[in-house]
Amino acid sequence: MIAVYPGSFDPVTFGHLDIIRRSSAVVDELIVGVLRNREKTPLFSAEERVNMIVDATRDIGNVKVTVFSGLSVDFARASGAQVIVRGLRAITDFEYELQMAQTNRIMEPSVDTMFLTTSLEYAYLSSTTVKEVAAYEGDISRFVPENVADALHRRVAEIKAGEK
Ligand code: PNS
Repeated sequence: MIAVYPGSFDPVTFGHLDIIRRSSAVVDELIVGVLRNREKTPLFSAEERVNMIVDATRDIGNVKVTVFSGLSVDFARASGAQVIVRGLRAITDFEYELQMAQTNRIMEPSVDTMFLTTSLEYAYLSSTTVKEVAAYEGDISRFVPENVADALHRRVAEIKAGEK
C-alpha cells in the first residue's frame, strides 16, 4: 500500500514526525507531500521544507519526500497512492479534517483518508506556535529536531537583520 501525507510543514515538528513514523510502519511506502501554496506566504520555501523533512527522516527506509501543488487527491492519484494520511490532534482539528476528507472522497472515491491521532506528548504542537516561540528567541528544542531549530533560528535572525 502506498500512502501520501500532504501538508504545509512550515516547518516540520515532532508532531508531524510522529505521524510520519507511525504511518510509515503500516504502509509499504509513505510519500510526504509538501504543498507549494501560492496563497499563503510560508517562512520556508517548499524545497527548504522538503530538505528539513528528508534530514529528519533519514533513518526511515520507506519514506519519500516531495513538493506538490494543486489538490491532494491529484497528488495521491499521481503517486499511485490509495490513502491520504492526516494527523488529528484535538477536537478542533476534526471539523476541518472531516470536511476535507469528505470533499476529497467525493472528488476521488478510490482514495481514502486514514487518520492517526497524534501522540499525547505532541497534541498541543503546531508549526504556527513553534514559529511564534522562535520569533521571540524562545527554546524550541522540545518541539522540532535540531536541524529545524537551527534553520528557524537562522531565518528569524535574517528577518530581524532585514528589519534594521
Ligand atoms: O499542514 P496543513 O496546512 O494542515 O495541510 C493542509 C493540506 C495541504 C493537506 C490541505 O490544505 C490541502 O490538501 N491542500 C491542497 C488543496 C486541496 O486538495 N484541498 C482540499 C480540498 S477540500
